Amino acid sequence: MHPDTLKRAAARAALDELVEGAVVGVGSGSTVDCFVDELAARLPRARGVVCASERTAARARAGGLAVLDLNEVLAAGEAIPVYVDGADEIDGCRRMIKGGGAALTREKILAAACARFVCIVDRSKCVERLGAFPLPVEVVPMARELVIGRLRALGGAPQLRAGVITDNGNEILDVRGLDLQDPAHLETVIESWPGVVTAGLFAVRPADVVLTAAPDGVERQPVTGARG
Ligand code: 5RP
Repeated sequence: MHPDTLKRAAARAALDELVEGAVVGVGSGSTVDCFVDELAARLPRARGVVCASERTAARARAGGLAVLDLNEVLAAGEAIPVYVDGADEIDGCRRMIKGGGAALTREKILAAACARFVCIVDRSKCVERLGAFPLPVEVVPMARELVIGRLRALGGAPQLRAGVITDNGNEILDVRGLDLQDPAHLETVIESWPGVVTAGLFAVRPADVVLTAAPDGVERQPVTGARG
């Protein structure tokens, strides 16, 4: 089955997780593009979306969705019950590596601002252990070499993602070779360094729900539980 078909199936299943009339948090990437399209087609009068990237915001606008500002939504006292996003890798504890699309910082902000994180993936993203995908780390450009040195001291092999500047004006280091046995600890350590904006580990706050699309259907983990 074509990967795009699976992405669309996961995206469609996420519509069942939404709370009617509420603002929806949306991440970034090709799977999220499918979700935005589904949302625009099925719920054209949805209250609106808060987006993790300029790419997602442009797609949402093109689909007729209202793109809202996170600060304005929160200042108005409005809750955002659901955040929908993809992942580069996800393990059995719903911990993720994210940032393949360089949107990790805004993704982590939205994951923190929304009540429930619904992760949509095709089965190729599911792993026993995180770490085959290089870990993205967003850094302030001035701190690049400082952070590279510290990542090397941890056993990592960081590489600057050439030609990429994030929506926040920063750079991305893609890091291979780190020991990811305790992802939440590593996330906390790397994010404590001056100049690091975000580590692409989502382990301190894992996903609440994972919708995994495979050729035989979409599986929900946990199987039961709150749907908004
Ligand atoms: C972007 C991300 C994406 O969620 C991740 O890269 C998955 O993307 P795709 O759905 O295109 O495979 O973290 O920063």
